[in-house]
Amino acid sequence: PLQAVIFDLDGVIADTAVVHRAAWERLAREIGAPFDEDIAARMKGVDRRGSLDILLERAPRAYGEQEKCELEARKNGYYVERIESFGPDQLLPGARDAVESVRAAGLRIGLASASRNAPLLLERLGIAPLFDYIVDAARIERSKPDPEIFLAAAAGLGVPPEACLGVEDAAAGVDSIHAAGMVAIGMGRREDLGEADIVLPGLIALRIADFVDNKNGATA
Ligand code: BG6
Ligand code: MG
Repeated sequence: PLQAVIFDLDGVIADTAVVHRAAWERLAREIGAPFDEDIAARMKGVDRRGSLDILLERAPRAYGEQEKCELEARKNGYYVERIESFGPDQLLPGARDAVESVRAAGLRIGLASASRNAPLLLERLGIAPLFDYIVDAARIERSKPDPEIFLAAAAGLGVPPEACLGVEDAAAGVDSIHAAGMVAIGMGRREDLGEADIVLPGLIALRIADFVDNKNGATA
């Protein structure tokens, strides 16, 4: 039976996937690296270093470790500058209701975001108290599509992975959910989320009752 729902943050709950993308695109321009839809799609959901490595694949020169740290800090500066002024208006449509409906259904709620800015963002959005467990992204060693982050969320919630639903907007995230042994709900367009078990346009379309079997508790 279903016991918990584990959400991604950027592009699922908050309108920040575009902010990450814009910050990487600005950095790419500054260092003369190409940036296109394919690169943007591959970076989605991937952690900071993983994203930078994708960006640098076609950069005009190689970068050393210290330079990579400088580039990451520069991109993060662009990102944080934007989200500092964020508030509940930057919640995606239906996000707050969706999370509250999961709680009302008696399920536990986890957050599996690769972003080290997740705690700051949740606070700005005013929804931090709705979560039972938030994975500390800094303690995750292997980026999505590895299952580590969704498994850490399930462990933190004290729920077996097979009793969890994962919600993601990125292909790497859907693969991470599946590798963790969970059912994956994709947010966005089917062509971007081919492996997802169910695709919805956004959280506004999520009806948690569809996943909960009233007689036996809940089923995924
Ligand atoms: C993910 C985003 O949630 O977090 C990625 O989808 C981002 O775009 C990643 O690169 C890491 O974020 P941060 O805030 O730790 O640089
Ligand atoms: Mg995302």
